[in-house]
Amino acid sequence: MRNTATREAFFHNGVFTSLRDVLHFYNERDLYPERYYPRNPDGSVHRFDDLPPGYPDNIDHDPPLDRKPGAEPALSEPEIDDLIAFLETLNDGYIAP
Ligand code: HEM
Repeated sequence: MRNTATREAFFHNGVFTSLRDVLHFYNERDLYPERYYPRNPDGSVHRFDDLPPGYPDNIDHDPPLDRKPGAEPALSEPEIDDLIAFLETLNDGYIAP
């Protein structure tokens, strides 16, 4: 997590461009999967669509990734603010060449 708050792109595919987006993904992935994944032809949500067949079984479901649609989010917006403030304390002044 060191210097993660200085990044301009997050995750292996650079899909998010801010720490807040990353935190919202963790908080919402299992509550509103339609916000993050495309739909199948039958209208259902194609969760984990970027993984080869078989690999979705390996996905961890530790908090906050342990919810079901309709559940309360694990984190409130003030808690997300606090997490971002904490992650920003892990910057050590490193500047990428
Ligand atoms: C609220 C709790 C969490 C926070 C604040 C957090 C924060 C982050 C951040 C900021 C990144 C982006 C790092 C980067 O792109 O340089 C990241 C990546 C990642 N996190 Fe978390 N994380 C949390 C929970 C979890 C959990 C529960 C898991 C596993 C079950 C997890 C697994 C991962 C993995 C595998 C990556 C790399 C993903 C990729 O590169 O595509 N994280 N996390």
